[in-house]
Amino acid sequence: MNVKLNFWIDVATFLGFMVALQPGFTGTTIHEWFTMAGVGTLIVHFVLHWDWFMRLTSRYFVKLYHSSRLNYLMAVLIFLGFISIIVSGLMISQHFMPFLGFHLESRFAWRRIHSLAANLTLVLLAIHVAMRWEWVKAAFLRLIVEPFRKTKKVDPVLVEEDGM
Ligand code: HEM
Repeated sequence: MNVKLNFWIDVATFLGFMVALQPGFTGTTIHEWFTMAGVGTLIVHFVLHWDWFMRLTSRYFVKLYHSSRLNYLMAVLIFLGFISIIVSGLMISQHFMPFLGFHLESRFAWRRIHSLAANLTLVLLAIHVAMRWEWVKAAFLRLIVEPFRKTKKVDPVLVEEDGM
């Protein structure tokens, strides 16, 4: 799997999620259109991880290391979290659904579900990132720190100290 592509999609998903958590800041119109556009990014993310998901699904009930099993469960829970956020978001939509010609009655329960699902998914995402921290750190060093170092290669002392 392409580490660079994965890393930037993860960063975009994370930043997008942070913006989505603040509808009061962006306004409901931007909140709805922005998150629906983000659904596209999410689909790409899931497609890129599909091999990993299927491999683990087929081995899940056979023999799987403890941490992989937990990672798998976390991925499934996060997926369900996003589905809940999107479905409940569509149920209370004031712009996107009316634009498509659907005028749903906004129900209080859906709003509670939307808010709860968003907060629970945030917690799950934080645990997910913590569990993949070694990968996040390695990708960050390779894709952000290392290219930056190379531009400074003109300084031989620094290059030598870094052992590059
Ligand atoms: C990653 C995706 C999303 C996240 C994290 C998210 C998060 C949130 C949060 C935290 C709230 C505030 C809830 C409250 O104060 O009770 C909210 C409100 C709302 N969201 Fe979302 N949301 C997402 C996607 C969507 C989608 C796809 C739609 C519909 C197309 C949508 C429509 C709404 C609406 C209509 C409100 C109520 C705004 C208001 O009345 O002030 N959301 N969302």
